Amino acid sequence: MPSSIKRIGILTGGGDCPGLNAVIRAVTKTALHRHGLEVMGIEDGFQGLVQNRLRQLHNEDVSNILTLGGTILGTNNKCDPRNYVVARNGHTEKADVTDRCMEHLAHHQIDALVVIGGDGTMSVASHFVRQGINCIGVPKTIDNDLEGTDVTFGFATACMIASEALDRIHTTAASHHRAMIVEVMGRNAGWLALQSGVASGADIILLPEIPYDIHKICQAVTDRSRHGKRFSIICVSEGAKPVGGKVVVDRVDPNSPDPIRLGGVGKVIATQIEELTGIETRTTVLGHVQRGGTPVVEDRILATQFGHAALDGLMRGLQSRLIVMKGRTVSDIDLLDVADKQRLVKLDHPLMQVARDLGTTFGD
Ligand code: F6P
Repeated sequence: MPSSIKRIGILTGGGDCPGLNAVIRAVTKTALHRHGLEVMGIEDGFQGLVQNRLRQLHNEDVSNILTLGGTILGTNNKCDPRNYVVARNGHTEKADVTDRCMEHLAHHQIDALVVIGGDGTMSVASHFVRQGINCIGVPKTIDNDLEGTDVTFGFATACMIASEALDRIHTTAASHHRAMIVEVMGRNAGWLALQSGVASGADIILLPEIPYDIHKICQAVTDRSRHGKRFSIICVSEGAKPVGGKVVVDRVDPNSPDPIRLGGVGKVIATQIEELTGIETRTTVLGHVQRGGTPVVEDRILATQFGHAALDGLMRGLQSRLIVMKGRTVSDIDLLDVADKQRLVKLDHPLMQVARDLGTTFGD
């Protein structure tokens, strides 16, 4: 049966990552060229839906953006229309503005939404599914922590950036005979630290999933010195924490649905290594550089496949699904099953055993 869909909306939510524009391009080009649909770009994630900031996307809008980092639509990691911050009588309070969003969708005659985001964005999308809006999700995040998919786009690029930094740190560490810590992002999941750490041959990798013992870390650093390796490379995830201890919080954003921003554990560990071993230690925090710039080839292709699959699925009648990669196959799962869930590194992950066999320490 031919699809009744004539016009779709598309938005990017949560933190940006390389490959967002590649998805926007794939969705829009497939919609325009293959199916003759109209595409409305919603600005700054769900914020644009609340504030009625939508614009039609034409071929020229999505031309030449495949390799462009960021998102041409803008994004927002604070807006949840169920808990929207409004100013009232000189102070701010939270209100449910779902009705306002529904009016804007009806006004623009949008038949379905393509929602590109991570777990927080999928949680909001599932709310709109319950309101009767068909949403197809596309999984993004450099953290690679979305449930239901083996990989999210943006992750490969972030790994490449982190590995390149670790490689550069290697030479200066060796020259100065120092312990060098590189703190990478990833929130509560250690995918980025594990993958970039193994790719760059880090001597110690610290993941949120494995609470570390500072004495084990110091032991590994001094053991290396004793065997003539007078430097050590430590790749630490921002979400790493000591046994029985807590994560290091950089800031709390009360207006964000996920208010905790992690950061600073690298510095804490550096101070302890210096105190306990006397070995000079420095820390580099990579931060948002991991989310910027041109996506690597793997992410461009994944994002293009995901965007095409989202549109193709919509036209085949998919309802409320998340596009995923399982093995080497693009497929889809129920969007409602993944909202608010995080996929962490399993302790028996094969890459961890490989690294251990090569002499890498995980601080446990
Ligand atoms: O989820 C992506 C991510 O970059 C995390 O790795 C990091 O903890 C967080 O977002 C940083 O958020 P913000 O951009 O708000 O500082």
